[in-house]
Amino acid sequence: MKLTRLTFFKHKLKAKVLGVCLFLFTSIQVATVSAQTNPIIFRDDFDRSELGNDWGQADGWSIQSGYAYNAVEGSNGALITSRNYSATSYILETPARGFTSSYQREFRIIFGQKDQTLGNGTDSAYVLSYTPYAGGQLTLSKATDNIFYPEVLDEVSIYPDLETNRWSRFKIARYKSGLIQVYLDRGRGYPSVPVLEAIDDTYKTLSYFGWQIDTQTSPEDFFVDWIEVRKPDMEKPAEREKPIPDDIITQVAAASNRSYTVAKLQVGEKSYADQLYTITSVPDYLKGASFIQTAAEDRLDTSRTFLTMFLKKKAVVVYVAYDPKATSLPAWLSDWKKTGDIIETNDPANSYLNVYSKLVEDPYIYPEPFQIGGNMAIPAMGARSNYLIAAVEVPAPARYEAEYATLKGAQVAINHMGYSGAGFVDFINPSGDYIEWTVKIQTPGSYSLGLVYSLGVESNRALHITVDGVGVATHSFTPSGTWELWSFFGGAKVFLTPGTHLIRATAIGQSGPNVDYLSLSYLSAAPEPLLARTGTAGAFANHQEKAVNSVKEHIAYPNPFADFTTISYTLAEEVPVKLALYSLQGQQLKVLVDEKQSAGVHAVPLNGSSLAKGVYIYRLQTGNQVNFSKIVKQ
Ligand code: GCU
Repeated sequence: MKLTRLTFFKHKLKAKVLGVCLFLFTSIQVATVSAQTNPIIFRDDFDRSELGNDWGQADGWSIQSGYAYNAVEGSNGALITSRNYSATSYILETPARGFTSSYQREFRIIFGQKDQTLGNGTDSAYVLSYTPYAGGQLTLSKATDNIFYPEVLDEVSIYPDLETNRWSRFKIARYKSGLIQVYLDRGRGYPSVPVLEAIDDTYKTLSYFGWQIDTQTSPEDFFVDWIEVRKPDMEKPAEREKPIPDDIITQVAAASNRSYTVAKLQVGEKSYADQLYTITSVPDYLKGASFIQTAAEDRLDTSRTFLTMFLKKKAVVVYVAYDPKATSLPAWLSDWKKTGDIIETNDPANSYLNVYSKLVEDPYIYPEPFQIGGNMAIPAMGARSNYLIAAVEVPAPARYEAEYATLKGAQVAINHMGYSGAGFVDFINPSGDYIEWTVKIQTPGSYSLGLVYSLGVESNRALHITVDGVGVATHSFTPSGTWELWSFFGGAKVFLTPGTHLIRATAIGQSGPNVDYLSLSYLSAAPEPLLARTGTAGAFANHQEKAVNSVKEHIAYPNPFADFTTISYTLAEEVPVKLALYSLQGQQLKVLVDEKQSAGVHAVPLNGSSLAKGVYIYRLQTGNQVNFSKIVKQ
């Protein structure tokens, strides 16, 4: 009989089966010392009145209704075994329930712990931690001297959050080879692929293990149903069987079961996992991209979903290199944008492949895999080679200070506080003065072009914005209140190819606002190079972006602030918005917005005159997405 079954029955027939279970566990334990494949190393189902001798450290933990229970406030809360275990291959399994996503709550499963006492400053162990606030990170890490500052081995954002009112079951398998795999069951059984995976040999034995919770604000109920450690059915091979983990793509599985490998895309790299051909040319922006070497043998596959993977970053541009001989493309490729770029190989059958791209965001992280159909999925025709896949992280928003740009007429000034960098730029003459930024773009795509400005007069002033000499917008800037209050304009969308571009803002008759900096944020892999076709602002305003991420950008300005600041954000779609201000202790101080808002730029004034000097956090929730940022009152 499988022990996991017993475990399941236990949930339903807890009281009734208890006696039988205990009897069975005891007898199996005895029987398996020599023969059984799955011996139990440790088990506690907390069906007693007290924690008992198995637990050496149990700060704040007790037993309540058959669960290990904790509701302490603080950052200790450790439940650690009283003796250490020498197994080098083991499967640790334990279900738990809690926390809400309030500020500063975290729980951890600790294993391989060298010392029985947690929190003594010299803790060294593996740590599986879940942080529900700020994005819901599940992190496998290693602490070499302090479990509060561990080194990340693998990490995912859990979407949606692990729910407070439901059990989540964690399974950690660690093998002698150093392979650690973490599985997560949120009520529908364990998926076949682990959610986290790493190879590490620092702590070879199970040693001390247990739970630890952290509630730095107010206490909250936390329950653990049981904890069990078994020997694995089978020892994994001693040699490293997994490649060095990729930073973007993880857990690639093909429906054919052929093995696909992940490498970095570069000239000289093998193009397919099962062939000797190599890559001979790559567009610059894809050099070093995460790269899936598919199996050439799978080129005829017609499955609608064929290739499965998780993406470790919240926003990724994925590229498919597809056979140019195709006379009809598979349906799944129809919403990918043809970039016009190619990847060349020395495969005589097909010396190059066309590159298509797509922006992939949040929902494709665990547990929802990102999936791609087969090479010949309907209605594909004519393709002879299998596709290749590459991925890059969406570029981080870039800031270009105005004071370092090329200026004509306009001058660097410092006479109004609140600017970032070394100053801001003041337009002097009514017309013709300009600021010209030289920007370098790596990833082609549609970018949102923003300006931080102040305008202390009562009427609007306009600037004409060009990219490489082509007009993209004439924007009329609204007054920001005073010359010391800085606002964000994030309206213009531009398609930028890889390489260097000149972005210029020119005064057109009324001088201009003072300008602090230019920001560029990646929006999407645009359908076509807009600049090549149009020169008017209207074309950009009308262009429909298909966006999944509701917030494109958010900023408090000025920050630090004296009494007033403005929180601005750009919404990609109509979405329910909640914007609130919190203390560092997690106390909600003000709700600034709580309503459905339309797509576009929103600027919310914050009157902080009643706040004490110090650091605060604003939390911007748009639909399922949550963003946090610190602001400082001076
Ligand atoms: C004031 C202000 C300047 C600003 C100017 C203007 O002189 O101090 O920073 O540029 O007005 O109206 O443009």
